[in-house]
Amino acid sequence: MADTSSIIKLTDVTLTLESGAGPVNILKGISFGIEKGETVGIVGPSGSGKSSLMSLMTGLEQATTGSVSVGGLKFEGADEDTLARHRLKGVGIVMQAFHLIPTMTALENVAVPLELAGVNDAFDRAARELEAVGLAHRMDHYPAQLSGGEQQRVALARALAPEPAILFGDEPTGNLDGKTGHAIIKLIFDLAEARGSTLVLVTHDPELADRCDRVISMADGKVVDDTGNTKSVTGDADVMGKVSNK
Ligand SMILES: Nc1ncnc2c1ncn2[C@@H]1O[C@H](COP(=O)(O)OP(=O)(O)O)[C@@H](O)[C@H]1O
Ligand SMILES: [Mg+2]
Repeated sequence: MADTSSIIKLTDVTLTLESGAGPVNILKGISFGIEKGETVGIVGPSGSGKSSLMSLMTGLEQATTGSVSVGGLKFEGADEDTLARHRLKGVGIVMQAFHLIPTMTALENVAVPLELAGVNDAFDRAARELEAVGLAHRMDHYPAQLSGGEQQRVALARALAPEPAILFGDEPTGNLDGKTGHAIIKLIFDLAEARGSTLVLVTHDPELADRCDRVISMADGKVVDDTGNTKSVTGDADVMGKVSNK
């Protein structure tokens, strides 16, 4: 089960949200640990709670009961500033929709969040990240001037630029055609491996799940199958301490 040194640790987590029709039990008691460097696919039918689980792990949503800790930070009781800083620097997130700011160029979309995170050479670093995703020639283009695949590359560069210990993806290929999605998958895995990042990917895409070391299957707000930890526990929980500010 989840060890104290896991980079992500969930213990008996539930999530209940209020709706017009009364409270809805979305997550119903989830426990697992993810070790540093694992690549984990989270699969399951639509509505099974995958995106909700991801919101808990990225700190966007607080668990109703149970505990969530990520990179040595326990979310329960953490103040909003700490959580916001964690989202800016500790984790990278790529979603199905690219969520780029339409009035900013590709370079600005990557550099501005870095500036917000207090990085001094934000524009230089953003340019290097755009090169790493193959977009050196598109830095001054606006999102509307880019294809879907190119926009997702910008989103990936933005997610990876703060050198997060963990990269989260929620259906990152969901809006792309097969060939473009394939190229994005390859890029995500290659970049995560090169940087030693832990990867957690919510997906419907069997190709994407197949590439993961481990697959966690969800149904009706619960984990119904888990192929298990694939990395040995190293005892180093303070991985966020390694997020650099250069
Ligand atoms: N803000 C909300 N209020 C009430 N119910 C919600 C809310 N967000 C999601 N749900 C419900 O929670 C369940 C799980 O949703 P979600 O996590 O998006 O599933 P998945 O990503 O696996 O498709 C669904 O039944 C959905 O309708
Ligand atoms: Mg979802």
